[in-house]
Amino acid sequence: MRQPEPIIAGTTGEIPEGETLLIPAETTGTVAITVFHAETGTFYALDDECTHGAASLAEGFIEDDVIECPQHSARFCLRNGKVLSLPATVDATTHQVEIDGENILLYAGLPVDEAADAESVGATSLRMCHRLPGERYRAGCPVGPLE
Ligand code: FES
Repeated sequence: MRQPEPIIAGTTGEIPEGETLLIPAETTGTVAITVFHAETGTFYALDDECTHGAASLAEGFIEDDVIECPQHSARFCLRNGKVLSLPATVDATTHQVEIDGENILLYAGLPVDEAADAESVGATSLRMCHRLPGERYRAGCPVGPLE
């Protein structure tokens, strides 16, 4: 795949840890993409629209390397976009992010590579933590309970 030209999505100082920055489709040239500054200190990017419905993940809640949709609480791994809990069943689309000095470079349309995918923690083990309607997270879930 030909590497797209990066977009300067903003500066690291503009997005405090635990916050997001929505990059509109007019800027990305494709779809709206959200850049997340995870509580772990790492920056990630996913398609903004939740794969379950018309909700903006930019308005979701970050916990560690996980984003929770503000609409129905589906959770996605920020590292690789894997869906971690219902009601979403489709993974989110990832985009590569690079930090260059203070600039956040977004490679819209370039997914995280397979190596990063394999290194990510969470996807396999967190899949065991699917929260069913009315159920809290199961014992041993590395993310912990919702509240
Ligand atoms: S719209 Fe995101 S979980 Fe339903």
